[in-house]
This record gives sequence, structure tokens and C-alpha cells, in this order.
Amino acid sequence: MLKMVDRLRKNYGDIVRLEGIPGRRRCVFLFDPNDCEKVYRTEGPWPSRISMETIKLYREQRHDVYKGESGLVSSQGEEWHRFRSKVNQHLMQPRTILPHIGPINEVATDFIERIRSFRNSESLEMPASFNNEMNKWALESMCVIAFDHRIGCLEPNMKTDSEPQLLINNVHSMFDLMYKLEILPSLWKLYNTQNLRKFFQVLDNLTRITGKYVDQAKQRLAEKPMENIGDRSMLERLISVDEHTTTVMIMDMLTAGVDTTSNTATGALYHIATNSNVQEKLREEAINVLPNKTSPVTLDVLNNIPYLKAVLKESLRLMPIAVGNLRTTNTDIVIRGYRIPKGDDLIMCHSLMSKDSKYFPDPEKFLPERWLKDSAGTTHSAKNAHPFAYMPFGFGPRTCIGRRFAQLEMETLLIKIIRNFRLEWNRGKLKLRSGFINTVESPFQIKMIDI
Ligand code: HEM
Repeated sequence: MLKMVDRLRKNYGDIVRLEGIPGRRRCVFLFDPNDCEKVYRTEGPWPSRISMETIKLYREQRHDVYKGESGLVSSQGEEWHRFRSKVNQHLMQPRTILPHIGPINEVATDFIERIRSFRNSESLEMPASFNNEMNKWALESMCVIAFDHRIGCLEPNMKTDSEPQLLINNVHSMFDLMYKLEILPSLWKLYNTQNLRKFFQVLDNLTRITGKYVDQAKQRLAEKPMENIGDRSMLERLISVDEHTTTVMIMDMLTAGVDTTSNTATGALYHIATNSNVQEKLREEAINVLPNKTSPVTLDVLNNIPYLKAVLKESLRLMPIAVGNLRTTNTDIVIRGYRIPKGDDLIMCHSLMSKDSKYFPDPEKFLPERWLKDSAGTTHSAKNAHPFAYMPFGFGPRTCIGRRFAQLEMETLLIKIIRNFRLEWNRGKLKLRSGFINTVESPFQIKMIDI
């Protein structure tokens, strides 16, 4: 996908229409931030985005649990807006992360120990399966927020029928099947294919596990009601809305909040390992906020790591999680003199715009300094860039609802890793694969040397 959109832009310019792909609506690729700004500014209060139709079908068929609710990843229009309004404050308010800082710190601490246990004792490199380990860290982190409970994905020697192993397998199968059903050509809309049946089975398993933790939290709340909603965890806050909303939101978090964080954190580790000046500056910051290797990450720490935040921004600029942000037009819209009718899919290719020298000088260079306040006025400052060129979490009412949690998880893990290890990467350029999202394809055998 990344190569294809690059070729489309080079061959045809800043707006390209593609049609005639079986099973796909007509789509228009946009490569100019001014045009993207026009799309976002006119999208209205109910933006539409290509949705996960298989998940929608599943939730419709399991009416007993989902009560007709499709959630965020698979609904549109008023239905989407109604759901988002119910859950938005419980995920997006800055204070919602507060009860989760301690548990996320614990997950990261365990992961640091795990790194020591499975790296090669001579080469100090991670095994080729480290990408999976990063994925388990992301899943454990998402679950400790969504279920208020340590699932145990980081336990060594898990039994094949243990709950964490089942969860890991099912989340993995969910992604795999979603890719086969939603991206590759598939006949599931015509008949109940084997993959669709497998997909429903996987979602049944995940719904069952989610239901168990929602029940437990309900019971806890009934036994010990809390007066101040501000002290509650995200799960407890959602339960105060209602049970099926909670289940749907947690399923959406498992769908959208695991591969995204694990691949973004992996990309950031790669950039840190391959830019020694950045790594040194970052270590200085880490030692400053974490006096000891085991010092916990607290709110105060998170408020005092501007360089790490800049590193994450720069990493997402060079390695965004998606080729582009998607919208489906809700009304006819005119762009560059072309009338794009209601119902066309728009793909706003921020992955190219954020690497364009027009907006980011020396675009291939990894320069976190671009994002620092004191870079204002310098040629490389991101303040000079068009504000719609770089959109790693999307924009507007349909922006990523998990952004605060994603940042909490990634900042906590990265600051602890940098405080504990010197990173080296000796395995050439990192290869990416773009499917649903951009994922790291190279075995992530990063070297981690205790400092
Ligand atoms: C580095 C990590 C992440 C990145 C880069 C990312 C990026 C994005 C982007 C680009 C969108 C589309 C926004 C738009 O259309 O304007 C999105 C939507 C979404 N994200 Fe994230 N995301 C991340 C982590 C998470 C996490 C941890 C969660 C779980 C809490 C999550 C849940 C969602 C959901 C549910 C949506 C759909 C929102 C809606 O349609 O209303 N994401 N994300």
C-alpha cells in the first residue's frame, strides 16, 4: 500500500480516483494537506469512515449481548454519534488515565524483567519472536486498563489452555481473520464462509472473557460504591453507563488498541537505537525523572518528559500506523474543481505528507527537536509545517478515542527501557508491511545492554 500510494502520487498528482476494484467502492486519494483540511472542516458532527462490516454483522447477530449496538469501529452517522457521546468522556478526559498509571507501570516493570530473561546472553539481542513479545506487552497493558485486572500475558511458560494464552491466540486470530475477510477478496457477503464462521467463534471467545471481567467489576462496584466518579477506573466509569455499552467499548479497545501501540512502540525503539544522539539526550531525561532503574513512573514523571514525547511524535511522523486517514463523504464535496459525490471513500495519505520536504525539511532525518517548544523559529520546527500534513491519531469528532491510554502505555514503557538499557540495532533497515495498519515485518532483534 505504501509503495502503491507513492506511485499514484508520482504518476497522477495530488488527487487520484480509483474505481473498478471488485467489492470496493470508488475511492479518491488525497495528497495535499489543504484538501484534507477541507474534508475535515466540512465533515460535520457525524463523520463516516469505512467500517468493519464483519464486526457489525457479528454484533447484530449476537443481539442478546450487544443489544443492537455496533460500537465505534463499525457504526456510522447518528448511531456512531450516540455511542461515542456515551463513552467519550470516560476515555478522553485527561484525568481518566490517573487510576491507570500505577498498573501500567507494573506491566512495564514486568516487561523489563522479561527482556532480561529472554535476550540472548551472549549477543544481548532479543529473539526473532520479540515482535510477539511487544504485542503481549500491549495486550497486557490494554487489558489492565479495560478489565482492571492483570491477565498474565507476560507470565513465562503459560499453559496452552490458560486464559492469557487463549486471549493472546484469539486476539491474534481476530486480526488475521479480519484481514482475510475485510481486505483480501472474500465471499463472506454472499455466503457464510469458513473464515466467517471461525471469526464468529473467535469473537464469541473474546466476548465471553470480556463478560467475565465486566461482571466482576459490577460486583465490586455493588459491594463498594464509590462516591466520586473521578476516582473510578475506566471500566467502573463505563459500567455506570450500562453493561452492553461497556462490553462493546472493551471489544473495540481490543480491536483497535493492541497492534497499534505495539507497532508504534517498536518503531520508536528502532529510531532511538539508530540515532545515538537522540538516545543520549533521552537517557539524560530518563535519569533525571527516574533516579533509579526501578523508580516508578508517576504522573509527575509523565509531566516532565518533553523529549520522549517529541521522540514519539517524530517516530509516528516517519512510521505512522496507517497509510492514511479514511472518510466516506456524507455529502457531495468539490476538491480541486472535481465534484466527489456522496458515498465515495477518501484516503488522506498523511503517511506521504508527513515525509514531504515541503512541510518537514530533511524529512528522512529523525529529529525530535522539531517538536520541542524551543525549536520555534528554526527552519526545522514542526510549527512551520501545515497543521493537516501530520495526523497520526486522526482529527475531529472521530479522532482516536484511545490516544491518552496509548500515550500512557508507550511513554511508560519507553522511559523505563531507556533508563535500564542502551539500545543497538545491527540488522539493516527495518521492513514494514502495510495491511490494515502498518506493522513491523523484520524480526525485531534489537540489542539491549544493561547500563
Ligand atoms: C499509537 C497508538 C494508536 C494510534 C497511532 C491510533 C490511531 C488511530 C487513528 C488514526 C484512528 C482514526 C481516527 C480518525 O478517523 O480520525 C483511530 C481510531 C480509533 N482508535 Fe486509535 N490509535 C492508537 C491506539 C489506540 C488505543 C490504545 C485504543 C484503545 C483504547 C484505540 C482505539 C481506537 C478506536 C475505538 C477508534 C475508532 C474511533 C471512532 O471511530 O470513533 N486506539 N486510532
